[in-house]
Amino acid sequence: MAKAWGGRFEGKTDPRVETFTESISFDARLAAVDLCGSQGHAKMLAQVGLLTVAECDAICRTLDEIGGEIARGEFRFSVELEDIHMHIESALIARQGDVGRKLHTGRSRNDQVATDLKLYIRDAIARVDGLLADVQRAFVERGSGDLDVIVPGYTHLQRAQPVVVVHYWLAYCEKLQRDRERLADCLKRVNISPLGAAALAGSSLPIDPDISAALLGFSAPAANSLDVSSDRDFVIEFVNGLALIAVHLATWAEEWILWSTIEFGYLQLPDAYTTGSSIMPQKRNPDVLELIRGKSARVMAAVPQLLLLVKGLPLAYNRDLQEDKIALFEALDTISACLELAPAIIAGARLNRQQIAARLEEGFLDATALMEYLILKGVPMRSAHETVGQLVSQCESKACRLADLPLAALQAACPNIMADVSQVLGVHNAVNALRSYGSGGPASVAQQLAIWKKRLAPQQ
Ligand code: ARG
Repeated sequence: MAKAWGGRFEGKTDPRVETFTESISFDARLAAVDLCGSQGHAKMLAQVGLLTVAECDAICRTLDEIGGEIARGEFRFSVELEDIHMHIESALIARQGDVGRKLHTGRSRNDQVATDLKLYIRDAIARVDGLLADVQRAFVERGSGDLDVIVPGYTHLQRAQPVVVVHYWLAYCEKLQRDRERLADCLKRVNISPLGAAALAGSSLPIDPDISAALLGFSAPAANSLDVSSDRDFVIEFVNGLALIAVHLATWAEEWILWSTIEFGYLQLPDAYTTGSSIMPQKRNPDVLELIRGKSARVMAAVPQLLLLVKGLPLAYNRDLQEDKIALFEALDTISACLELAPAIIAGARLNRQQIAARLEEGFLDATALMEYLILKGVPMRSAHETVGQLVSQCESKACRLADLPLAALQAACPNIMADVSQVLGVHNAVNALRSYGSGGPASVAQQLAIWKKRLAPQQ
């Protein structure tokens, strides 16, 4: 097969080089955006008079036909044609002859591939945003039913202070909201059109990058052809955004793995998302959550992979850049698979209310509430801290709770303690006492849940 760039060559390409340099095995998935980008480019060429309207129509129609064949799996791919751009262009030329040979006017594969990637990532941002919203919705939807469940909040994985369990659900929502905002911000830079940069220097032809940018829904054409044809910042930003989603999902997965152990006993994961053991009949393993945690490595690894790929590359296009798609697609596919499974796990998990409640009074979850009570009674914070520490130590030696100490013992430790101390002791009092904005107390959490419901309601 003759190469599109074969004019200056006499010898044939070594077949091993074809295999080594091809990207069609992984960039075929850019077909739809490549066709779309080419149609935008062709329409621009027609508007500036570099194609006739009839030529442009023939090109666009044929590109649609090719797109249909690719979508139906009827299109033949071959490594000799290197990449998706060459496949589509040579199919166009095979069908349209000289008219097809005009499509690449004022364009290079360098601005073409950058355009494809931007169109692809633009769609991907919309899809991932939707998946993130589905996960948030799953937490919010189960929230109303969980408002009466109090759990220990942990620091250092040690029992710390009580919170309404929905505070956990909304904590994940906040993290995923930042992920959505990061992607939305990334979109601003994705949405600058590379078309017009051509190989690296622009073109002497009367092309109009404003037109192709507008036709493809970009906010503007790039102001520097050298920059935009070498720029992969947007891929790295996007994948970095995915990596943070992976961090958040891994945290959630890890917590729910712990919460579903007998040691914690807080959660029962849905049958459909747990698996058994091939040898131990009683086992119920959280494999899906473990793999969400495990697969996060692939997403995170794509960030250093891309940074290493671009580090030290001179301007403008270098073939190294072809490898960007490997990391991009791996990260995107992996995070998408995780996000797609998460809502059903969230919706289907059952809280073991009785088991959680049975051990809630262990671990002095009300100690901080008692300390804050003392502060309100005029005791300096550090002294209050020390007093409560001593009381906890007394309780430990007597194997009792703070609430079990007689008032006289409390007053012996600190004369500022009054009978109303009973209103802050015990986990329920302690959680009800939480009142600051953003806190894990029932009033604050209910207020935040209402805000989340409104935020996630489908836009009219
Ligand atoms: N397959 C190439 C890539 O993905 C397309 C650009 C090739 N450009 C070139 N001048 N060889 O990066």
